Amino acid sequence: MNYFDGKAFSKDWTSHHIPVWEQLLRERAHEPLRVLEIGSFEGRSALFFLQFLPNCQLTCIDTFEGSVEHRTPGSRHHTDMSEVEARFDANTRPFAARLEKLKAFSIEALSDLQRASRRFDIVYVDGDHHAASAFTDAQQSWDLLAPGGIMILDDYLWQPSKPAAERPQPGIDAFLQARSGEYEVLHSDYQVIIRKTCSHPHRTASDFTIGGRSIEEVSGGSIRPPLVSFVVINWNYARYVGATIDSIKSQDYPNFECLVIDNGSTDDSAEVIARHVGDDSRFTVEMLPENLGQLGAAFWSLDKIKGGFVTFVDADDVLLSNYASMHVQAHLALRQSVAFTSSRVAETDARGNVLAAASGGGTFIDQSQALNLDADASTLRLPAVSNRDFQQLSARTALIPKSATGWHWSPGTANMYRASHLRLVRRSGEARYMRAADGYFNFMCHGFGGSALIDMVLSGYRLHGENAFSNHESSPWLRSGSPEYYRLSQEATLTDIDFLLANAGRYAWMLDGGFWSVLDLITRETPKRLRSFYGDPKVFEIFLANAPKLAAEFRSRVFCREILARFSGSQARKILRAGHGGRLKQRAYGEIALSELRKALSILRKRK
Ligand SMILES: C[S@@+](CC[C@H](N)C(=O)[O-])C[C@H]1O[C@@H](n2cnc3c(N)ncnc32)[C@H](O)[C@@H]1O
Repeated sequence: MNYFDGKAFSKDWTSHHIPVWEQLLRERAHEPLRVLEIGSFEGRSALFFLQFLPNCQLTCIDTFEGSVEHRTPGSRHHTDMSEVEARFDANTRPFAARLEKLKAFSIEALSDLQRASRRFDIVYVDGDHHAASAFTDAQQSWDLLAPGGIMILDDYLWQPSKPAAERPQPGIDAFLQARSGEYEVLHSDYQVIIRKTCSHPHRTASDFTIGGRSIEEVSGGSIRPPLVSFVVINWNYARYVGATIDSIKSQDYPNFECLVIDNGSTDDSAEVIARHVGDDSRFTVEMLPENLGQLGAAFWSLDKIKGGFVTFVDADDVLLSNYASMHVQAHLALRQSVAFTSSRVAETDARGNVLAAASGGGTFIDQSQALNLDADASTLRLPAVSNRDFQQLSARTALIPKSATGWHWSPGTANMYRASHLRLVRRSGEARYMRAADGYFNFMCHGFGGSALIDMVLSGYRLHGENAFSNHESSPWLRSGSPEYYRLSQEATLTDIDFLLANAGRYAWMLDGGFWSVLDLITRETPKRLRSFYGDPKVFEIFLANAPKLAAEFRSRVFCREILARFSGSQARKILRAGHGGRLKQRAYGEIALSELRKALSILRKRK
């Protein structure tokens, strides 16, 4: 392609780089890329980007006053700068709709872009040649570059005989050293071209602030930001798990570890996992010889992980790069701690094309419930969450009332739990639990510690035809999942009830009067349907078997009242009798009579 026919130029520092650029950018050439150029001059490189990337948006920063060498008479770069801007405008005019021209010093324009939380996929650094400028241009624009984005640093070998401060190389070297571990080198010659692999892997405590002050500084290094544990549970998802791991690597929250569990896969998952994890020390891989089920593997992981916050990442889902920072920020800024936060998901097809932005079937908040999180000065702030993001988070995060029944959350990957609460409700009887982790943890953890919703899309939920739960994008009018799935989850609910009752000794005290409402919550029923749920003979049997434990744990009056509130007269009497070694206590007769009277009165009232 000839990019420059019919255009006017006085210099050409650019054409000979184009074959390398074409080769490196070809794969993404038709994507709607966001390109940033520092140093545009007459628009030669700009014309390349605008034409080789026909769907890109280009932002050009230039003072149009030239660098020192352009203004130095006698220099071979000396240029009459008065004509340069006019040539740039004329050359790029046909592409005006895709072009943003920022006539400013790069240090100012880049700060403005930073403040506006702008992001770019390609950055071309070709401005001032002093080492200090090359360093700051690269540093500032690196923060604007999206993970996976490409940065082209020009003039690495420019005029090697000049003093170090007057040529780009020392500045570029200092930048590359400061950001080591965050990029891979794609090309190194007169230009250095790198791809951003992740953000800030090494920045931790010093970036965590309160009222603008570094927590590391004010705590003398003794308080650190929370450690997040991602647990990827993979079973035969070789075709998707690579993208899942890459999305974790791209998190803009630096303080995380990731445990990848292969749950006895029989496809080539092991090879894909090893390739994508590479030598990243934040990742650990565990290959389980047999499939423990998703919940089984999740319980198993709780002895391995060290983080205070945990997300179980389904191996067919992906996280957006701000997933961890937004969830952690919400946890830290909520005035009342919650057991977990749940964000929206982008439901996609198997290839990642978005179908819907959903809350996974749950009801999300209306604005009147928004929390309006604590202001900047009074809360712990993460650097990756800009002021604008913080304001949005604040307006779009809400507590779910503790008493709310039913499913309110997004599926698995979208939830970030407190590890302490997961351990609190952990079951240890068996190794295998062949069921979804969220179906267990969300109800239990909400019952024990409450939950909050973040009404923002922070992860992608892939619908590929083999999902256990969803066979189409969510809809308020259609059930997701198969009848078989519903049958299995009803069976699972019975084991949850049994578990809670069997552990009444431990939980009743801890829940401080909330035990019975947690019990109702984990039935997954609405208040209206609770009575018929408890009427099921299987549920009755579970209560009968656990009755001695309940009788021992609760005062006689409470035990009678709570059983009578849930069961019919004859079932209740049997449970109460079983609780007291086959005999009804004196008090029970009184409670039964009272309960019958209440029922009769309520029927009479309804008739009126
Ligand atoms: C080498 S030229 C850019 C060449 C251009 N990319 C091309 O392909 O023709 C460098 C440009 O950087 C601009 N420049 C130098 N220092 C700058 C600064 N601090 N801020 C913004 N632009 C600057 C100059 O005005 C000049 O137009």
